[in-house]
Amino acid sequence: MSAARDTAPRLLAISDLHIGYRENRAIVDGLRPGSAADWLLVAGDVGERMSDITWALGTLRQRFAAVVWVPGNHELWSVRHDQSQLRGEPRYEQLVERCREIDVITPEDPYPVWDGPGGPVTVAPLFLLYDYTFRPDGAMTKEAGLARAYEAGVVCTDERLLHPDPYPSIEAWCEARLEATEHRLAGRDADLPTVLVNHFPLVRQPTRILRYPEFAQWCGTERTADWHIRFAAFAVVYGHLHIPRTTWHDGVRFEEVSLGYPREWRRRQSPPGIPRQILPA
Ligand SMILES: [Fe+2]
Ligand SMILES: [Fe+2]
Repeated sequence: MSAARDTAPRLLAISDLHIGYRENRAIVDGLRPGSAADWLLVAGDVGERMSDITWALGTLRQRFAAVVWVPGNHELWSVRHDQSQLRGEPRYEQLVERCREIDVITPEDPYPVWDGPGGPVTVAPLFLLYDYTFRPDGAMTKEAGLARAYEAGVVCTDERLLHPDPYPSIEAWCEARLEATEHRLAGRDADLPTVLVNHFPLVRQPTRILRYPEFAQWCGTERTADWHIRFAAFAVVYGHLHIPRTTWHDGVRFEEVSLGYPREWRRRQSPPGIPRQILPA
């Protein structure tokens, strides 16, 4: 009986694999499903190089029945040692193309329905970015918030490597993503609950425990504060903070599923690289 329970299909999630680190690459190499019918949600920050990203997602896709990916900020960086020198939206489109070649589901594909235990639920991979509205307390504008970050010496590398082309700014790209995504979500099957997957937290609260509060500016947008209610989320999966934990907001389970950097996961009690079970709950 226990064997049957062990092999029942599960909807699993992980993020922030950062396989530029040798130790993290080895973890991905060792990652296996419990059942051949398991799905894996990968909530961004697989790595920076196109070849690393496609290796990791392709390897996982060979093992899991489905792999659903959303981009993190790191996939969108334009770095000198990458074979792809595209920036901004064209880089994102290239990532989507590569995912399609290896049968990995992206935010640009029809939302898949998890029909296994705990289902049916619509799995909605989202690409929303951030718009500098998670500002430090007292900062009224983006400029004031950024000034505080520069003073504190806590400036996200995105400022140098994440380009918004062809948009004039990251917040303009974010605005376009929000509008397009709201439209997609509004058109989904309203009878089914959703699992929303986004690299950044959809609500501000999880960022309140960041060691450097100025960093929250690069962590999301106030515009999604009620999306878990509006779009009937059964659960929300995210990463980016590298603070794996479960929190509840308006009765909805939010799962931060980061692996994170070796110096981070070495400090934790639990073994690294175990995906979080989203369904069955
Ligand atoms: Fe990360
Ligand atoms: Fe990130």
